[in-house]
Amino acid sequence: MRVLVPDLGDFNDVEVIEVLVQPGDTVALDTPLLTLETEKATMDVPSTVAGRVTAVLVKKGDHVSSGTAVIEIDADPSALQNATAKAAPQPLPATPALSAAPMPLVAPVVQAEPVVARPTTHDGVLPLATLAFDVGNSRAHASPSVRLLARELGVDLSRVVGTGLKGRVLHTDVKAWVKQALMHPTPTASPLPSVPLVDFSKFGSVSAVPLSRVQKISGARLHASWVNVPHVTQFDEADITAMDAARQALKEQAAAAGVKLTPLAFILRACVQVLAQYPRFNASLDASGENLVLKNYLHLGFAADTPNGLMVPVVRDANSKGLFSLARDLAALALKARDGKLSAAEMQGGSFTVSSLGGIGGTAFTPIINAPEVAILGVSRASLKPTYVEGKLVPRLLLPLSLSYDHRVIDGAQAARFTTALVAALGNVESLTGDLS
Ligand code: COA
Repeated sequence: MRVLVPDLGDFNDVEVIEVLVQPGDTVALDTPLLTLETEKATMDVPSTVAGRVTAVLVKKGDHVSSGTAVIEIDADPSALQNATAKAAPQPLPATPALSAAPMPLVAPVVQAEPVVARPTTHDGVLPLATLAFDVGNSRAHASPSVRLLARELGVDLSRVVGTGLKGRVLHTDVKAWVKQALMHPTPTASPLPSVPLVDFSKFGSVSAVPLSRVQKISGARLHASWVNVPHVTQFDEADITAMDAARQALKEQAAAAGVKLTPLAFILRACVQVLAQYPRFNASLDASGENLVLKNYLHLGFAADTPNGLMVPVVRDANSKGLFSLARDLAALALKARDGKLSAAEMQGGSFTVSSLGGIGGTAFTPIINAPEVAILGVSRASLKPTYVEGKLVPRLLLPLSLSYDHRVIDGAQAARFTTALVAALGNVESLTGDLS
């Protein structure tokens, strides 16, 4: 029995890219015999009868057209009967247009569903069996029904190792691949390596304390800033001997005005002055990451340590406030933060943040930027240090400063200029105490 190439529609001279059988091979019904290829798709020509291959009439590289005889099979009579029955015209699935027209070798671009059809019979010969088209998996060696199965399961055939003849991908290969994929899902690619999970109870008694809601929220924001913003921290020391003397001198006056005057109010005053000179530090990158949004307002956030975790209330329009007013705002907002009474509005709109650990201790730290702001000033505890002033070793009160900045926006030289200016501003007592309102 001679097997012919089926109706290929408009295509002629289609190349044989692979001959899958040789004389003497025993083939079953639907065993792929040849693979044909146009520029855009491949198709298998499977056997429609079980039997033994007696002759292969084409070789790899030959060109064939509809009706070309390609294989001779000595059919098993019982198989022939089955095949004939099977070859009787059957309704085409789905697309009416396909049932009326010859099957195109190239699936239409708009075709979303796989095209599987049964060709009509040719005079005097058994029809070739199912054609299947698969542009995406065209390089894989698989029968049409295997391709169909792969499509239905969303399997990329090029990733499946075929265990059939000459590496053909079989139904069982596709199913095994799916099973394997389900049992060992590829972990979602994470840009970050994960920290090892440890069962601490193996090493001793442990107890779990849930993070507070504030800690969870601030933690996520800190993490986002840490991983998204290239941080650099610039350290400096400000001589605040004169500033602290002024603070002590103003204490009574401040108390009379109902204000507790801590170094932080002076520091905010100094920041206001320096931020006016360096507007890039009072800015944010826009969504495209290509433009800097300079803010014409100065709303200063400050980190407040509360029983529930870190909060950042905002002193609005800090540039329009005098020293006592700043101190009053700081105290009032810090109290609200500790009592859990800050409104959302009181935590929004900050353009630059100060984080002071000076009341607690420490010599320096590297604060995380309150993104999308681009800089944060860390303040540590001032201490008396022996310092040379005009050639003489004298005790001076030095305030450690740690400025973390977004290196995408601020260069190291600018950061050094900023902290230098801040040191100068903190040393200029007249300017800091110029407005006591
Ligand atoms: N150096 C030396 N002493 C300092 C100081 C400094 N840099 N800053 C404050 N002090 C002193 C104050 O003068 C005050 O002393 P006094 O009572 O003898 O006058 C004492 O430390 C406590 O000050 P504090 O109550 O902390 O007031 P503050 O205005 O300095 O700070 C907050 C207010 C809300 C910022 C502060 O209480 C706070 O919560 N800090 C923690 C911020 C934080 O957690 N940052 C880390 C973020 S990662």
